[in-house]
Amino acid sequence: MAKFRKAAKSKILVTSALPYSNGPIHLGHLVEYTQTDIFVRFLRLIGEDVIYVCADDTHGAPIEIKADELGIKPEQLIAQVYDEHVRDFKDFLISFDNYYTTHSPENQHYSDLIFLKLKNNGFVYTKDIEVTYCEHCKRTLPDRYVKGKCPKCNAPDQYGDVCENCNAAYKTIDLIDPYCVICKNRPVRKSSTHYFFRLSKFSKKLESWLSKNKNLQPEIVNFVSNWIKNGLEDWNISRDGPYFGFKIPGEEDKYYYVWLDAPIGYIASTENYCKKNNLKTEYYWNSKDAKIYHFIGKDIIYFHFLFWPAMLIGSGFSLPHDIVVHGFLTVNGEKMSKSRGTFFTAREFLQKYNPEYLRFYYAGMLSKKMSDIDLSFSDFGKKVNNELAANVGNFCYRVLNFLNRNFEGKVKDFDKNKLLINEINKKIKNIEKNYYAINFNEAVKDILHISSLGNKYFQDNEPWKLINSDKEKAHKVLGLCVNIVKNLSILLEPILPNFSSNLQHQLNLKNLKWGDLNFSLKSHKIGKDEIYIRKMEEKEEKPQPHSPKEETKKEFPLNLKVAKITEVMDHPNADKLYILQIDLGNEKRQLVAGLKGHYSPEELLNKKIVVITNLKYAKLRGVESQGMLLAGDDGQNVGVLTVDKSEAGKNVYFEGFENSTKELSFDEFLKLKITIQNSHAVFEGKELKTDKETVRAEKVNDGGKVR
Ligand code: MSP
Ligand code: ZN
Repeated sequence: MAKFRKAAKSKILVTSALPYSNGPIHLGHLVEYTQTDIFVRFLRLIGEDVIYVCADDTHGAPIEIKADELGIKPEQLIAQVYDEHVRDFKDFLISFDNYYTTHSPENQHYSDLIFLKLKNNGFVYTKDIEVTYCEHCKRTLPDRYVKGKCPKCNAPDQYGDVCENCNAAYKTIDLIDPYCVICKNRPVRKSSTHYFFRLSKFSKKLESWLSKNKNLQPEIVNFVSNWIKNGLEDWNISRDGPYFGFKIPGEEDKYYYVWLDAPIGYIASTENYCKKNNLKTEYYWNSKDAKIYHFIGKDIIYFHFLFWPAMLIGSGFSLPHDIVVHGFLTVNGEKMSKSRGTFFTAREFLQKYNPEYLRFYYAGMLSKKMSDIDLSFSDFGKKVNNELAANVGNFCYRVLNFLNRNFEGKVKDFDKNKLLINEINKKIKNIEKNYYAINFNEAVKDILHISSLGNKYFQDNEPWKLINSDKEKAHKVLGLCVNIVKNLSILLEPILPNFSSNLQHQLNLKNLKWGDLNFSLKSHKIGKDEIYIRKMEEKEEKPQPHSPKEETKKEFPLNLKVAKITEVMDHPNADKLYILQIDLGNEKRQLVAGLKGHYSPEELLNKKIVVITNLKYAKLRGVESQGMLLAGDDGQNVGVLTVDKSEAGKNVYFEGFENSTKELSFDEFLKLKITIQNSHAVFEGKELKTDKETVRAEKVNDGGKVR
C-alpha cells in the first residue's frame, strides 16, 4: 500500500445520497450510510485528508403536498424531519463532517450558477409540453398523483407512470378515467413551457469518462454505456408551481426540478463546511488532485452516472473519482414491507438493539457490489453472538480480565512468537487493502480470523495452568494477547467505533491510529476490564457482576457439542450399528453408533444429541466414526442424551469445567464416570448442560452409566 500512501495527501471528499425529507431513516437507508461511514472512518484512521458531507433532500412536490395536508409550511416540515434525521444518524454513529440541507442559500447559489452556465453554454432550451393539471387543486400533478385504469390491462387504481399489475409503462395522459389522488376529481391536459437539459449532447464525453475511469464498478459501466448507445433523451429540469424548491431565475412560477438541485447539494454542503473551516470549495470541486467519492443505491444510477456528470462537465466542475453503488436491503429474503412486519425505522431498531450490531452485520455483507443485501433475523442473531460476542468480545475480555487478576494489569514483555505475529501482520495488510477497496466483508473475515488465532493461542497455552509452572512465560503469553487485543481495537474502529474506544479505554490507551498497528506494547498497565459486547438474548437480562472465571474452572477431557442427526443408515457389515450423518453447526461428520434395537431410524432423524468431538477417529467394521455420541445405559435400556432448544454446534458442559480440545483416546474416555440421575447426566455432582437448558437422558433409569 506504499504507493497509495504516497498519494495520500490529496483531498478526499466523500458523500452519501441525500435522504428525502419526507420520511424517517430506515434500515434500508442505513446500508448506505453505514457503508460510507466505515470507509470514511478508515480513511481518517489511516491519515487521509478526508471529509464526509451530506444533507437532507428537501425539495419536490411530495413535500409540498404533505406539508399542505398537515397545514404547516414546508419549511416547518423539513426542519422537523431534519432534527430526526440528525438524531438517527448520530445514534448509528454516522460521522458526517457536515450535514446540511438543500434548502440553503449555498444550494440556491450553486443551483443558479450551474443552471445559468449550462444555459449560457447552450445546453438548456425551452419547449412546450402537455401536463396533467387538476383544476380543483390548482396544481400540475406529478405522475404519482394521478391514478386511473391501466390502458393496457384495465387494472383499476394504477399510478400515472407504471401499472403495478402488468408492469406496463405509459404517460399519465394515457390512463383511462384518470383522477387526482388528492381530491379524486378528473384532471385536464394543459400546455406548459418547460426547461430542458441537452443530455444527448454529452453522450461522447460521458462514454469517454466511463471507459477511462477504472474505479467504477464494471457491471455498472457496462449497462450505463448501453443506455448511452441506445440514445439519451433530453431532460426536463423544471416544474410548475405550486412546488417546494428554488425559483428559476426570471420566472414567476417555475422551479428547478428537485433532481437538479439535489446533487448540487453535495457542493453546497461542501461549501458550508469550508466556510466554517477556513477552506475553499474549489479545493474539492475544481481541483485535479482532489478525489470525490459518491455512495449511492442502485435505484439512482441514472441520475449519478448520466445527469450529474453531464451537469458537471457542462458547467466546469470536477467529475467524481468513484461512484460506489450498493444493492437494496431485503429483510428475511423479501422486500421490506410494513404489512409483513419487516419494515424498521432506525428508531425502532434502536429500541431493541445496539446500533453496532447492525453496523457489524452490514459490514460482514458489504462489498463493492451492486447485489442486494439480506438482513435475516436468525443470521443476524447468530453473527452477533458467535462472531462478535463469542469470538472477538470474549477474547478481549478474557485476556484483559486474566491480566488484571493475575498480573495486576501489567504487561511486562510479550512472547515473540514469530509464526503467529507474521500471520497476523499478513492479515493486517490484507485488511488495509480491503478497506481501501470497499470490500468490508473480506476485512471482517480477516479480523475474525485474527481474533480466532488469539483465542486459540490463549487456549493452547493454558495460562491458567502455566501460571503455576512458569509464571514468567504465562505473563509473556498474556503480553502477546494484549498486543492482539490492541490491534483488534484499531482494526475494528471503522466498523465498531464505540466498541473500539471502549476497548482502548480498558487498555488504558487512546485514539490509536492505523499506524499503531504493531506488536510493541510492553511495560504498560491496562485499566479496568469490562464485558462490553454481550450476546443478544442476554441483553435484556441484568448484566452479571461476576462471570465464572476460567482459571477457577477445571479441565474436562471431553469436548462436547450439540449435533443434529441429518441421516440414518444401516451399517452394511454389522447388525447392531447405524451410520449417522450429523451437523455440528459449522461442520458435518459421520458417526457409527450401536443404537439398533433401541431406536428406529425415524426416532433418530433430526434429533439433537451430544457428541464427543475430540475423540480419536476409529473404524468400526470398516466404516469411519468421527466421534461418538453420548448415551445412557442402565443394563436394560439405552437412551441418547438429547437437547431441544440448543442449536447444533453449541457447547455442552458441566458447570465449573472447561471442555478440552485435546485429542482423546477411547481408553481415557472409559475412565470417566458420568451417571444418570433424574434423567440428567451427572459428573462430580454437576449436571450436563448447554447455555440454554439441561441435557436430558432418554429411556434410562437412575444409576445408569453414560458411555
Ligand atoms: N433524495 C434522493 C437522493 C438524492 S442524492 C443527490 C433519494 N433519497 S432516498 O431517501 O430515497 O434514498 C437515499 C439513499 O438511500 C439512496 O442512495 C437509496 O438508494 C438508499 N436507499 C433507500 N432505500 C433503500 C433500501 N431499501 N436499501 C438500500 N438502500 C436504499 O434517493
Ligand atoms: Zn385535485
